[in-house]
Amino acid sequence: MCKRDIKKYTDANREAWNEATLKHQQARAEKNKNLKEEFSQKGYSSLDKYETAKLKEIGLTGKRVAQVCCNNGQETLSLVNLGAESAVGFDISDEAIKEARELAKISNLNCEFVRTDIYDIGEEYYDSFDLIYITIGAMGWMPDLNRYFSVVSKMLRTDGYLVIYEHHPFCYMLATNREDGFEPDDPLKIIYSYFRTEPWVGNDGIDYIGGTKYESKTSYDFTHTLTAVINSIAGNGIRIKEFTEYSHDISLGFTEHEKEGKVPLSYILVGVKE
Ligand SMILES: C[S@@+](CC[C@H](N)C(=O)[O-])C[C@H]1O[C@@H](n2cnc3c(N)ncnc32)[C@H](O)[C@@H]1O
Repeated sequence: MCKRDIKKYTDANREAWNEATLKHQQARAEKNKNLKEEFSQKGYSSLDKYETAKLKEIGLTGKRVAQVCCNNGQETLSLVNLGAESAVGFDISDEAIKEARELAKISNLNCEFVRTDIYDIGEEYYDSFDLIYITIGAMGWMPDLNRYFSVVSKMLRTDGYLVIYEHHPFCYMLATNREDGFEPDDPLKIIYSYFRTEPWVGNDGIDYIGGTKYESKTSYDFTHTLTAVINSIAGNGIRIKEFTEYSHDISLGFTEHEKEGKVPLSYILVGVKE
């Protein structure tokens, strides 16, 4: 996809994510979830047991890490609380980065946050990181996965790690529990094509925290097959070292689907820059 077409989607998503971030803040307040309080505690981490175990096995100590599509930075800050020497979080949303900077100030950690479209990250961040983390609902926002991993690969130092904890592409065939097509008696019903190429156009919001729908700015997200994920990583000089599939949900969208443990809903991929 050419840069101009990518921008058409990512510029719109910037607006949609600014709007959604404010909704998320409101939803957290209603649930009495206070991130400022949590990140004022020494060593606080919002990462779950699967990602924590994998990151500890790889070892964060002494590493300069980055998170691309970091949203409000809670995972980026957690990486430093789990031992990373320093971290940089990148995200397109002005509101998310504003919140991330506030949390960084409160937690007093060695963390920097940059508002940028991932596709615009330039030379100043090339060859800079020992580990890049991508997690929970980030890759679906990328109109062009190959260009995305081209940027990620350039940001990694040789022998640096790429760690991804994401929705399994199998999820793209299912309706989430907040979609009209969702059938509570048959949550695993295949509804969408695994090979869909056109973008999903969203106009009812991205409130996965509060679960509300609202008339929103238009957002665009994308289906990426496992083939596309693997080839985009390997094709950009990152050797895939490990790939592990799980049956648990990593968002609040597939809670009913995970109950039977029958289908892959998430995965961890570890790669190394050659
Ligand atoms: C579902 S969040 C994933 C982040 C994190 N795992 C979380 O749950 O908070 C997706 C993030 O990707 C960001 N994003 C979407 N498109 C982007 C782009 N082109 N460049 C940088 N960030 C982008 C959004 O602003 C949003 O914060």
